[in-house]
Amino acid sequence: FAENGIDGWLRYASLPRDVAAGARIPGVIIALNDSVVSPIFTAGRELQKGIAGITGVQLKVSSTTTGNTSSITVGTLDSVASAAGQVANLPELTGDGFYLDTTGSGARIIGHTERGALYGAFEYLSMLAQGNFSEVSYASNPSAPIRWANQWDNLDGSIERGYAGPSIFFKNGAVVSDLTRVSQYARLLASVGINGLVVNNVNAALAANIPLLNSANIAGLGRIADAMRPWGVRLALSLNFDAPRNNGGLATSDPFDSAVIKFWDDKTAELYRSIPDLAGFLVKANSEDQPGPLTYNRTLADGANLFAKALKPHGDGLVMFRAFVYDHHLTEDNWKNDRANAAVDFFKHLDGQFDDNVVIQIKYGPIDFQVREPPSPLFANLLQSNVAIELQVTQEYLGQQNHLVYLPPLWKTILDYDLKVEGQSSVIGRDILTGHRFNRSTNGYASVINVGTNTTWLGHHLAMSNFYAYGRLAWDPLRDETQIVEEWAHLTFGSDRKVIDTITDMSLESWPAYENYTGNLGIQTLTDITGPHYGPNPASQDGNGWGQWTRADATTIGMDRTVWNGTGFSGQYPPEIAAKYEKIETTPDDLLLWFHHVPYTQRLKSGKTVIQHFYDAHYAGAETVQSFPERWASLKGLIDDERFNEVAFRLEYQTGHAIVWRDAINEFYRNMSSIPDDQGRVGNH
Ligand code: GCU
Repeated sequence: FAENGIDGWLRYASLPRDVAAGARIPGVIIALNDSVVSPIFTAGRELQKGIAGITGVQLKVSSTTTGNTSSITVGTLDSVASAAGQVANLPELTGDGFYLDTTGSGARIIGHTERGALYGAFEYLSMLAQGNFSEVSYASNPSAPIRWANQWDNLDGSIERGYAGPSIFFKNGAVVSDLTRVSQYARLLASVGINGLVVNNVNAALAANIPLLNSANIAGLGRIADAMRPWGVRLALSLNFDAPRNNGGLATSDPFDSAVIKFWDDKTAELYRSIPDLAGFLVKANSEDQPGPLTYNRTLADGANLFAKALKPHGDGLVMFRAFVYDHHLTEDNWKNDRANAAVDFFKHLDGQFDDNVVIQIKYGPIDFQVREPPSPLFANLLQSNVAIELQVTQEYLGQQNHLVYLPPLWKTILDYDLKVEGQSSVIGRDILTGHRFNRSTNGYASVINVGTNTTWLGHHLAMSNFYAYGRLAWDPLRDETQIVEEWAHLTFGSDRKVIDTITDMSLESWPAYENYTGNLGIQTLTDITGPHYGPNPASQDGNGWGQWTRADATTIGMDRTVWNGTGFSGQYPPEIAAKYEKIETTPDDLLLWFHHVPYTQRLKSGKTVIQHFYDAHYAGAETVQSFPERWASLKGLIDDERFNEVAFRLEYQTGHAIVWRDAINEFYRNMSSIPDDQGRVGNH
């Protein structure tokens, strides 16, 4: 294997002979659409390739029924019905759902959409690749229609918060000519149910001098969309709110100005000529120096609706409007200032004012992709707006793919959270993002992935489990994170039980360990805030406008976010939740310093003091990862050397960096608090 990461979990490695012996492989593949851009055509080819890899059997693909009674038939309900006769008693299919039936001599894969049929084919292949030849018959429907990925790629080819080389999409201000990697990426996305991709940086005004929307780039974006279309992945774009001024020769970008409206209408029409199935726009407005409607005395809703109206005549395009709006020049000397309040402050009063094709894209926590945050209270405050959660596969604050950190356990703290809106069950994944709770039909998921040209995609083979799991959880937020990583490890590294178990165990231990050595008790990831967000730098949190404050001094630490004495943030939650966080006694230890400002000597529920918890947790976290290289080494020979060595290198690095983290943080707080470690470790080397 020359480029061993390119296929990710879609390797279709041949099964061990004894397992392969149990395979029941039908005689032919019937893919009921012969247009090369159809996901059903793609499904036929993928089934052919996968089955050849897994079992060694070369099947033919036909687009019509053949005399062969044993076939894998893949199509939509209509196409299967017209080719093979009435399909009776199918379970209900919704969205991009599919029905998979492997009972009897063949297999039937029936999509509610063409995309759904492709997803069903991937599901079937995943079963085969895991040596599972059982007879199944079930429908699988996505939890929500929006399952997007975001890339923060700049047109010059760099990627904001990307850790795996330059862009696969752009170079020197233009779309690259060879889009091989783009279709390979789309294949990975499709295989886990992702149906939309924003290709350019959300900070779209960053390099406004490189116009995205000139005719050459619009043609280039059309080629990207063409490369992804066979995989059912639709293209979307981040927009620069000030493009009318920056690139359109206008004096203003005021959303009420008729020339501005015309600019966006014309650009949108031009985009649709090149990309007839454009998925929509992503807009970061009035945040971190990005322009926006507030600049022109219009509301955020006015800004969002400007784009919504431009999209509307062309079909079902969406405006993903980010809730990540805050003032990054806050002053810390005001005890009540709090960046965490911003999303609700900016958006709650606009609920009900957004057009129906606007979706508010909300980061999972109120601050910024930290190692531990409570859920964004905005999810409990937008009852008449479409919403999507924003996650990060790219590990911006979380070790930048130099650390193994399996993220689903963190994501689950949010997805499984019951916000109890109006006293009713309001679990974020199950009730809110599905749209069930507030009767919305256009909700869902976005995740910043930021793959690069590196052949591992993300820079670390083991980081791909986060990409895989993101898709799985967007499809079904109730899925178990252990099962997901086991499945991913099996598909990626083969069926050896020891390999699967070792990777699973290390992955599950990794986020708690990372939290232990980088940011305890809800204090956030104590990384370099003003710089690259990498490595320990607790001093950088405070004394600047970014608002990721800890308010640590010689005797106390933590943000007082109570209503009675603090920033009032806890009051943004529904009453039952708010009451819980209002008091120290009812706040769980892991969020204590998120909600309260306490002495270092404050006792936790565990019985330890805050400061001793810091010391102990940092030792425990660093110790956990010290065991990773040895555990990984025990897999030598059980996986190919190339990936073995690449992962070994990263894990070795992590052990050292975890110690750097441990000592930097512990020393910092020992110096600040003058309280010794009761184990005598800190300050003693
Ligand atoms: C973080 C990140 C930025 C990014 C921003 C966003 O602050 O560091 O690079 O632009 O989030 O999500 O908009």
